[in-house]
Amino acid sequence: MNRREPLRVAVIGAGRMGADHVRRIDRVVSGARVTAVVDIDAERAEAVAAGVDGCTAHTDPAAAMAADVDAVLIASSGPAHEAALLTAFAHDLPVLCEKPLTPDAASALRVMEAEQALGHRRVQVGFMRRYDTEYVRLKALLETGRLGRPLMLHNRHRNVAGPPFFTSAMLITDSVAHEVDATRWLLGHEITAVTVLSPTPSSGAPEGLRDPQFVVLETDGGALSDVEIFVNCGFGYQVQAEVVCERGTARIGDGHALVTSTAGRWGGTIAQDWTERFAQAYDDEIQTWVDTTRRGEVTGPGTWDGYAAAAVCEAGVRALEEGGRVEVDLVEKPALYR
Ligand SMILES: NC(=O)c1ccc[n+]([C@@H]2O[C@H](COP(=O)([O-])OP(=O)(O)OC[C@H]3O[C@@H](n4cnc5c(N)ncnc54)[C@H](O)[C@@H]3O)[C@@H](O)[C@H]2O)c1
Repeated sequence: MNRREPLRVAVIGAGRMGADHVRRIDRVVSGARVTAVVDIDAERAEAVAAGVDGCTAHTDPAAAMAADVDAVLIASSGPAHEAALLTAFAHDLPVLCEKPLTPDAASALRVMEAEQALGHRRVQVGFMRRYDTEYVRLKALLETGRLGRPLMLHNRHRNVAGPPFFTSAMLITDSVAHEVDATRWLLGHEITAVTVLSPTPSSGAPEGLRDPQFVVLETDGGALSDVEIFVNCGFGYQVQAEVVCERGTARIGDGHALVTSTAGRWGGTIAQDWTERFAQAYDDEIQTWVDTTRRGEVTGPGTWDGYAAAAVCEAGVRALEEGGRVEVDLVEKPALYR
């Protein structure tokens, strides 16, 4: 495709992320318009579609994809992604699929096999940290080699409060999934094993939830990446990363954009959620997807990255539930993704 006209996008899932992406395509991003919004909750689909000129509301993703659309943005709940991806492949449509690609490695593998059967890449996965200015600068610095070989990556991922349906396993599959991708991307390594430790849960966490957790990822490049995930920290949304290399360290996520000094104190503010902290990253992620799709290209994190993250998270959930160190079992990387 080399489209001069704006890309006609169907957005599947009109919840928090879907509605935000609809707003982004309608008001922020250039070169695309939302022509269909789909949600199994008809009222939600209609409410979101009503805010966009010429946009129709649907409850069935297949019906929306059979209409005149050029591309699909999947922002439904994780378990619904596989069916939507396979339907998009049936129409050979380019897709931006929110993370996780699918909730487990077996379903991710089925998606990867279906994309290989098409013979070309169609999917960009919504690992938006790869578009965040701070992460991009950190990656560029590591690639210069000035600091030497990365030895350790320390990550912190804190949320004000998790949603009521969040389980101990979802701290890994929904939240640590981002650090899994960030680790693979920043270091250029695959993750080979996962260990999960957890302290006595915070009294601020719902009864029975193992929150926080401390996750250790081992990589095939001989590095260690650790992740503190704390979804009910109460005070803000914080995502920080520090890489320790042979000749120095580099750190992002301190949120020092504006520091004030007044009344005997100094300090700044902490973002309250990801839509605020990663607004620039989401905008650049979707703009890049629109631009590359209009040129007939697929860039960024793809199906292999979604599969690898799913396999690592699956090992992480086993490590959480069974204890000890669990090795990650990845299939050989198919030629399409090399
Ligand atoms: N990249 C990020 O930083 C980030 C942040 C939050 C959420 N997400 C991801 O975005 C996706 C959506 O998350 P959310 O927070 O908006 O959840 P949400 O619960 O607010 O919205 C999900 C929506 O999907 C709809 N839905 C469920 N099954 C469907 C189906 N078969 N067809 C059509 N619609 C269906 C639901 O009715 C709901 O409206 C998830 O995959 C989540 O992991 C990514």
